[in-house]
Amino acid sequence: MLQKGAYESMVEERVYETYADIIKSDLPGPIRDPKAAVKLLEKKYKLVVDEKIVALVFASFMNGRPVLFEGPPGTGKTEVGEALLELWAGKKPFVLPCSESYDEYKVIGDFHPLLAMQKGFNEESFIPRPLLSALILDTGILIDEIRRSSEEFQNILLDVSDKRRIIVPELKRVFRARGEGFQIIFTSNPEDIGQNELSDAFLRRVVRVEFNYPPRHVEARIMELRASPTGPKIPSHIAQLMLDAISQLRTSSVVYRPGPAETVLWARMAQAIAELRGSDIVTLEDVVKAAESVLVKRPEDHEIVVETIKKVLGP
Ligand SMILES: Nc1ncnc2c1ncn2[C@@H]1O[C@H](COP(=O)(O)OP(=O)(O)O)[C@@H](O)[C@H]1O
Ligand SMILES: [Mg+2]
Repeated sequence: MLQKGAYESMVEERVYETYADIIKSDLPGPIRDPKAAVKLLEKKYKLVVDEKIVALVFASFMNGRPVLFEGPPGTGKTEVGEALLELWAGKKPFVLPCSESYDEYKVIGDFHPLLAMQKGFNEESFIPRPLLSALILDTGILIDEIRRSSEEFQNILLDVSDKRRIIVPELKRVFRARGEGFQIIFTSNPEDIGQNELSDAFLRRVVRVEFNYPPRHVEARIMELRASPTGPKIPSHIAQLMLDAISQLRTSSVVYRPGPAETVLWARMAQAIAELRGSDIVTLEDVVKAAESVLVKRPEDHEIVVETIKKVLGP
């Protein structure tokens, strides 16, 4: 960490003071070998990720290209994105959940109204925001649910990512990327209705990586990794039935299809219900009790979920 007075300017100083601790990682440094990354993803982040995905993401970063993770909800886009950015930079990334109201002031920086009145629009009254901070700290940024933002905002992001610099006209300054750590991952769920389409310009510049429901053996591994290690045990025949039910729901006509996120939550809820009964083993009854609350996200799905559960796990 730099000494006080060693910063290029007040903006850099403010960024370091605000965020240096937050982005501190317990990694020894950047991890850019896909094989080593896959191992750490499982061990440190409890994430099961295909080595091909890791290699694709790292290859994009080597070309200075942002990556777009697209896929249904609960398939690990956000968590895998955060973890890969941390591995690549050796520092924790910033995470920006998008909304329609985002603009450059909210992501690059704005001026404190009172300070700006007293001191003017200069570095003293400037508040650096996540995108500029990530660039200055040479770490990654995950821009979550990009379809929820405006096209204008998407264009600003692409410009920054292309040129690896941010211009703040009010400060008469150009901030440039310090190294390779600054990378962008976008996430999006194309099936989400009522969201903006991504423009051709956007799609042309990003490397698109598709996320999907994992194969059964991978999902079984995720469940095993993510179930409470100290909680009641889930017998393997029950875990298999749960996976059966999940895969049937995915091919049924439910509006909300369960992702691995729901599989994990279902397992953990069943464990908690068993624990509350004072049992150290999960029974079918616990699993059925947990099912409705976890798997019914829309009232119109209620009937199909109950029927499927009854059919697969029934007495
Ligand atoms: N590949 C995976 N490995 C481990 N857990 C996963 C994986 N994919 C999904 N999950 C589970 O799903 C949860 C939510 O993942 P998240 O990144 O929020 O999904 P998304 O952003 O695609 O909606 C995780 O906390 C985890 O329990
Ligand atoms: Mg997400």
